[in-house]
Amino acid sequence: MNIRSFSSLLCVFLLFPIADAFFMHGFIRCQLISKHEVVYLEQVYFNKRLIGQYNSSLGNYTSYIEYMKEVVHYLNNPYFLKKKEKDIEKCRSHISKSEDLSTPVKPYVRLSSAKAESGRHPRVLVCNVYNFYPKQIRVTWLRDGKNATSDVTSTDELANGNWLYHIHSHLEYTPRMGEKITCMVEHVSFKDPQLYDWDPMSESERKKFAVGTAGLLLGLVVLLAGGIYYKRNTTGRELVPTC
Ligand SMILES: *[C@@H]1O[C@H](CO)[C@@H](O)[C@H](O)[C@H]1NC(C)=O
Repeated sequence: MNIRSFSSLLCVFLLFPIADAFFMHGFIRCQLISKHEVVYLEQVYFNKRLIGQYNSSLGNYTSYIEYMKEVVHYLNNPYFLKKKEKDIEKCRSHISKSEDLSTPVKPYVRLSSAKAESGRHPRVLVCNVYNFYPKQIRVTWLRDGKNATSDVTSTDELANGNWLYHIHSHLEYTPRMGEKITCMVEHVSFKDPQLYDWDPMSESERKKFAVGTAGLLLGLVVLLAGGIYYKRNTTGRELVPTC
């Protein structure tokens, strides 16, 4: 089981930019592959290119360019390789510490509606599921409580780059009065499947409603002010004797 393939950057060694053009850098990486397995890596890059590395799975150094062959040959002797065991052990010790990293992270779910780009329906509902871990997830749609599979598309689980994932499921639909549309999310972080009902009176619609109401109120105020003004003027005239 892949708990969290986590690559912790322990140190950066060797930095020497020369005339802004060349950049040699190295990483020491401790990757937790599973609850029982680590890969310890030492990698040297020239600009973006990996030119040589030590990989604990292979137990030796490998060169990727001619220039590194000699260095690698020198390092691949029992003395240096034996030294690596300590580093691998240190890397392995992270497994117990990473236990909490393997706890599931609950997603944040938000529904939104947009005009459909194409297809048979004018609108598309999007169930946006953000920041969950682990990657495995099921996002489905219910229309009036019944599972809907047609007009549904989904992205893959997309990596945020911070071990969390997001996914977006789309349902193309024609708005119908009284129809209840629900996005159902099943994830190991939830005890039960979570239901998110689409509220047609969503944010944007609420905004439109608010603007409309404000407009109406403003109209009423203007009307009222006009009425009072008119009344004052007409009554005023009556009070002033004309001759
Ligand atoms: C390290 O070696 C293992 C076993 O050959 C391989 O699966 C893995 O991809 C290697 N890692 C890197 C970063 O090259």
